[in-house]
Amino acid sequence: MNTSGKTIIIASGKGGTGKTMFAANIGAAMVKRGHKTVLVDMDTGLRNLDLYLGLENNVVYDVSDVLNGVCRIKQALIKDKRFPGLFFMAASPKPDDGEITPLHVKVLCDKLKKVFEYVIIDAPAGLDDGLTIAMGGADEVIMVITPEYSSIRDCQTVTMTLKELGIRNVYYILNKINTKLMKQGFAPSLKEFPKSITERMIGLVQRDENIHISTNMGVPIVFMKESYISRNFDNIAGRIENL
Ligand SMILES: Nc1ncnc2c1ncn2[C@@H]1O[C@H](COP(=O)(O)OP(=O)(O)O)[C@@H](O)[C@H]1O
Ligand SMILES: [Mg+2]
Repeated sequence: MNTSGKTIIIASGKGGTGKTMFAANIGAAMVKRGHKTVLVDMDTGLRNLDLYLGLENNVVYDVSDVLNGVCRIKQALIKDKRFPGLFFMAASPKPDDGEITPLHVKVLCDKLKKVFEYVIIDAPAGLDDGLTIAMGGADEVIMVITPEYSSIRDCQTVTMTLKELGIRNVYYILNKINTKLMKQGFAPSLKEFPKSITERMIGLVQRDENIHISTNMGVPIVFMKESYISRNFDNIAGRIENL
């Protein structure tokens, strides 16, 4: 198939690690670097990406409508008028009824990749069917982890499951870093992370209340103002271009 773009899935073991925050900001960083990008929310039933992008009032059709043939792809694509080049497709607010397969998602991703340079998918946390389905079109997977032993363990478990699905292009982002806690020994330091994770780490994101505020305000922080956070996301976006 004549594809040009790439599909990147944002996943995690635990919930609340910052997947949706990361998806919104890395999508925004890609757009700032001149790449036409679509953010697709596949956290069916627990969608949040519309809120973090401030597009909740623009949603008419969602991914499930596209996959079930209720509407065409174009009808479910929301153009972010504030940021030219950024598009969004919402998740269904209802859990799936079991009709959608990874192949349906692969076909959708292949079609989107003809139009977009990056298709970034916000996947559900954990190991259930929703993750397998969201992985249907994966070219690369980025797992968002936090400096907690439980997050590391869950991330290793999900990485094993991905290997069983034949997905090996897995990279890691360490989010919500609190250097003070790390130095005091109250959070695992990078030395304590398994090598399999640190060798494939493509970015570190500090815990910063400005990030939390931006998700509540519905504007990705990298679009708000130049800061160390936007420079950090720009560097991560550069690494993703070279994966
Ligand atoms: N680096 C960070 N610093 C501060 N707050 C963060 C950071 N990353 C995420 N958060 C906050 O943590 C919460 C969970 O993030 P979210 O992206 O919704 O997680 P997930 O999608 O993995 O469940 C949100 O309130 C978000 O604002
Ligand atoms: Mg989320």
